Amino acid sequence: MSFPVRPGTQRVRWLPDRPGSGTVATVADPVVVRDGDASDVGRMTWAATEHLRAAWREQAVRAGAGEVCFLVAVVDGHVVGKAVVDWTHNADGSAWLWMFSVHPDFRRRGIGRHVLAEAEDRARLHGCPAIEMAVDDDNPRARDLYVREGYTVAGTHMDEYEYTETSGATVRVASPGALLRKAL
Ligand SMILES: CC(C)(COP(=O)(O)OP(=O)(O)OC[C@H]1O[C@@H](n2cnc3c(N)ncnc32)[C@H](O)[C@@H]1OP(=O)(O)O)[C@@H](O)C(=O)NCCC(=O)NCCS
Repeated sequence: MSFPVRPGTQRVRWLPDRPGSGTVATVADPVVVRDGDASDVGRMTWAATEHLRAAWREQAVRAGAGEVCFLVAVVDGHVVGKAVVDWTHNADGSAWLWMFSVHPDFRRRGIGRHVLAEAEDRARLHGCPAIEMAVDDDNPRARDLYVREGYTVAGTHMDEYEYTETSGATVRVASPGALLRKAL
């Protein structure tokens, strides 16, 4: 089920039940995709190293400044998914989707597709001609999902970043991957 969407509104979908998934969500729980803020970051309990939380908080602040759209998926009060749509990353005016993930206990129930659809709607409303994202070469199942949703490989992409661990050590990451693009 999908609803017309405008910035600031909520997108609601009922979750299919997936026996054995171990989630706290049931068939009766809708998933709501909405704009997130810094208070939502504290409720993202999965994959929550401090450097990730700091990165997510930074995006919540950027959303307040209108530079990005920070989407969260909420089930029964739990923040179980998120994505950032960046309006400033690409010089050609296309949107840049990143920081996309779903809580492991809530995967394979359509939440990722639901967040993706909302991200694309927001980009359309923003006037973007296309939306792009990068996917690591070691994440073929996620790439398959995007291809099924209409994305095509537009090139290669090296995801390079560094962060400081609580111990003070600097970690440098370089992950080769594909650049994906979908016309809107
Ligand atoms: C990619 C991701 C956001 C998809 O979210 P989701 O809620 O599971 O997505 P959906 O339920 O809408 O779609 C599931 C589909 O994604 C694909 N998929 C992607 N990664 C997968 C994984 N690790 N395990 C299983 N399926 C995966 C499958 O093809 C699946 O399709 P199927 O259920 O028909 O077999 C989620 O798997 C995730 O958070 N992965 C870890 C972080 C990540 O890789 N982010 C993307 C970076 S580009």
